[in-house]
Amino acid sequence: MNPIISVRGLRKNYKKTEAVKGIDFDVEEGEIFGFLGPNGAGKSTTINMICTMINPTSGSITINGYDVASQKARVRESIGIIFQENTLDEKLTAYENLMLHCRFYRVPKSERQRRIEEVLEIVDLQAEIKQRVDTFSGGMKRRLEIARGLLHYPKVLFLDEPTVGLDPQTRAHLWEYILRLKEEQGITMFLTTHYLDEAEISSRVAIMDAGSIIALDTPDALKRQLGGDMIELATEDNALAQQEITKQSTPESMTEHEGTLFIRTDDSNRFISQLLPTLTPAVTSLNIRRPTLNDVFLSFTGRSISATKGDG
Ligand SMILES: Nc1ncnc2c1ncn2[C@@H]1O[C@H](COP(=O)(O)OP(=O)(O)OP(=O)(O)O)[C@@H](O)[C@H]1O
Ligand SMILES: [Mg+2]
Repeated sequence: MNPIISVRGLRKNYKKTEAVKGIDFDVEEGEIFGFLGPNGAGKSTTINMICTMINPTSGSITINGYDVASQKARVRESIGIIFQENTLDEKLTAYENLMLHCRFYRVPKSERQRRIEEVLEIVDLQAEIKQRVDTFSGGMKRRLEIARGLLHYPKVLFLDEPTVGLDPQTRAHLWEYILRLKEEQGITMFLTTHYLDEAEISSRVAIMDAGSIIALDTPDALKRQLGGDMIELATEDNALAQQEITKQSTPESMTEHEGTLFIRTDDSNRFISQLLPTLTPAVTSLNIRRPTLNDVFLSFTGRSISATKGDG
């Protein structure tokens, strides 16, 4: 395998905060690499180091064969970035923002108009080409930023929370396009998101917590690693049910969230047929399913990803 990004021993300290604590990973060409983690895990800090925006405290990064410390210009030509925060010039029009980017990236003059039209069509903003960005909605700004990130045909596209704040329809539309880009152009995607259905489309997912990568695998393998079934159980007295369950068995994990017990067990058949009928409190609802990426996230970080949403 030929990694397009290699990260070794990467660290970042801010005064007393160890934001990134020495991480190693590779991203393969053409894959969608997902980065998951609660607020403050170090995702943006890592991305910003890979993209040459901030300098690491120590460690090394190569991207598209270039060294991030000594070949910054080459690295920047190889990547497109959709930052977590809006970085458009609001006083300029959509066209002017894109034209600035073309100049900055030295897109050949003869190509500029065509590419601007091409990327605006992708995000459905052709009609707003002459409109000032400060008149755009949040979703329109996000779409314009994605268009801008694609203008110089990068090898790797970094998307830090690309769809946060967008309505479900716009999100779906963007993902369709992003997937098409990956298929047709072979662009490698490096993405952070709090939406687990988005992380689900990743070829591989790294789970980051408190500056370290604590798991890295395909979504399927992560779920398999967790194993067993998830039983979602509500009873008339969950506390009592919990006591009785732990007396009779040792589930892999058991947590309560909003009136429902989430029980992971390797033997759901035995649980349902033998244990459940012996419970004193009446069962009010029961559901059995395979573990999801959210369960994986919960088991590794002790937090549900939905509880970490709405970030800054
Ligand atoms: N410029 C900075 N100065 C000081 N501390 C910082 C700075 N940037 C980030 N940090 C700290 O580094 C840690 C990692 O922050 P980072 O923004 O990388 O997290 P994140 O995983 O992107 O979180 P989120 O999901 O909220 O975007 C946090 O503790 C944060 O407070
Ligand atoms: Mg972040």
